[in-house]
Amino acid sequence: MKIGFTYDLKSDYRRTSSSPKDALAEFDHKVTIERIIKAIESGGHEVVKIGNARNLLKKIDRLDVDIVFNLCEGLGNRNRESEVPVILDMYRIPYVGSDGLSLGVTLDKVVAKKAFLADGVPTPKYFVVDHLNGAFHLGSMKFPFIVKPRHEGSSKGISDDSICLNEEELRLQVKRITDVYRQSALIEEFIDGSEFTVLVIGNENPVALTPVQIGICGKLELGRLVYTSRRVTNTDIKYICPPVISKTLDRRLREVACSAYRAVECRDFGRVDFRVDLSGRPYVLEINPLPSLSVEDVFPLIAEAEGMTFDGLVVKIIDIGLVRNGINKKRRKS
Ligand SMILES: Nc1ncnc2c1ncn2[C@@H]1O[C@H](COP(=O)(O)OP(=O)(O)OP(=O)(O)O)[C@@H](O)[C@H]1O
Ligand SMILES: [Mg+2]
Repeated sequence: MKIGFTYDLKSDYRRTSSSPKDALAEFDHKVTIERIIKAIESGGHEVVKIGNARNLLKKIDRLDVDIVFNLCEGLGNRNRESEVPVILDMYRIPYVGSDGLSLGVTLDKVVAKKAFLADGVPTPKYFVVDHLNGAFHLGSMKFPFIVKPRHEGSSKGISDDSICLNEEELRLQVKRITDVYRQSALIEEFIDGSEFTVLVIGNENPVALTPVQIGICGKLELGRLVYTSRRVTNTDIKYICPPVISKTLDRRLREVACSAYRAVECRDFGRVDFRVDLSGRPYVLEINPLPSLSVEDVFPLIAEAEGMTFDGLVVKIIDIGLVRNGINKKRRKS
């Protein structure tokens, strides 16, 4: 098959002086993109490099591919991840992965939480603040809270300071998010406990693969420690796959991951992030239909736990997308 590949290279973007320091955190380095291309080629496919949404627009009239493998995150608003799928839909070009609607819903964590709650998927209690005027209406919610930007990924805007123990700290963090990230602040009850991420693949009968536990600074009971993009680039983070957990928790994580995947109608693949409280109750923090495929991330470990290679897992996801789109693998030889 001829596989078009859409992606965001860090080097294709410049951070403006008014944008946050971590504005480009979601974009990939060249080595990651080259490694993914190698993985796709291991399935006997030919890869046509397209690049980001603007490059796709430039190339689209001459594009000769069977399907597109999309990893574009885009820049700016909450529709940024939807741009490539929507353009491909306009031109009736099939692609692997979720459509623009699911990508928009999942990028906006507040909208995603509404979908989770409607489907009975457990997620931390929350409220949203757009402007700092007046008192907070906390209802039944109790400190500590964590304050996050409403529609970002790669832990953008999240640090140890994001955890608030009182109203004064909460005000400071909300102001930081609304001023620096220019979007609403999502305030959630902070879940003290452990952290997991679960990759789900498939469509009619999605399958949750082996969960990955996340250790931070040598700890599995994380207390107030949080996963941040700064920690990903040093040795603070340790991924454990398979984790040493009870069968009950393993089963529950997989069940809830599939429910979250269904709630937002993900396609082909997606990674669900969890915090598990001290009594063993899992809470979905978010779902990433465009998870990192960097080999430093969780993909190689999950593949190994499933008896596959990293390359094999990437090829399997493409196969799932080909089948969903009704594309016959033998139709075209590269
Ligand atoms: N309600 C919460 N309780 C405890 N920890 C939380 C909570 N929300 C977020 N965190 C911590 O902050 C990290 C990042 O949060 P979240 O996954 O919501 O953001 P993200 O930027 O979309 O992440 P990613 O890096 O996976 O793209 C989590 O992995 C977790 O460590
Ligand atoms: Mg996350």
